[in-house]
Amino acid sequence: MGERFRIAPSVLSADFARLGEEVRAVEAAGADLIHFDVMDNHYVPNLTVGPLVCAAVRPHVRIPIDVHLMIDPVDRIVADFAQAGANLISFHPEASRHVDRTLGLIREHGCKAGLVFNPATPLDWLDHTLGKLDLVLLMSVNPGFGGQRFIDAVLPKIAAVRQRIDALGGERDIWLEVDGGVKTDNIAAIAAAGADTFVAGSAIFGSEDYAETIREMRARLAGVGRR
Ligand code: DX5
Ligand code: ZN
Repeated sequence: MGERFRIAPSVLSADFARLGEEVRAVEAAGADLIHFDVMDNHYVPNLTVGPLVCAAVRPHVRIPIDVHLMIDPVDRIVADFAQAGANLISFHPEASRHVDRTLGLIREHGCKAGLVFNPATPLDWLDHTLGKLDLVLLMSVNPGFGGQRFIDAVLPKIAAVRQRIDALGGERDIWLEVDGGVKTDNIAAIAAAGADTFVAGSAIFGSEDYAETIREMRARLAGVGRR
């Protein structure tokens, strides 16, 4: 990759009956990652897909699969997702009894590890974990559903995480991903706050022309100054 910004279409807004075709289409349209939302009707009030569907999608694309676990508990299913071809696995710290153990488990299975913060989850969870993370994922909606409105109060939180990552002085390459309500008309502001990886579900899969939407997102991002 090596791009300054990464775009991660969320399959939550894809046509699940044609998932293979849909992921191939967004890869061809220029996506950098496939964002794979896993919900359990327990941690969040919705139910989606698991490792079997991840494994079914895997041979259709070459780009990494970015698994976002919205499930409680986390640990038992980690190996199954690694086996199913996940490249990054992130989870919500409130959903794991032993966050450090879960991070270790993800990495032991050869995947990059991320922590996910809901809009009201404090950044304190980064205090003793940041040095072990590959990804910080900030939710800009409450998790559970696609198509919700971006919560503007998350912008200063993005900036705060950017500062914490930069304070490590580049000793680790930690991605800062934002998830929820990302559209062509707000992506530049989200990048200006410090994000480098953008999940977009309804904005991409709900559009007529995936390539045109991703191209427009990149055009908006090109106007964001270098840090
Ligand atoms: C919400 C999911 C998101 C969702 C984003 O719980 O984590 O990834 O698909 O959808 P949009 O981009 O439509 O807000
Ligand atoms: Zn997500």
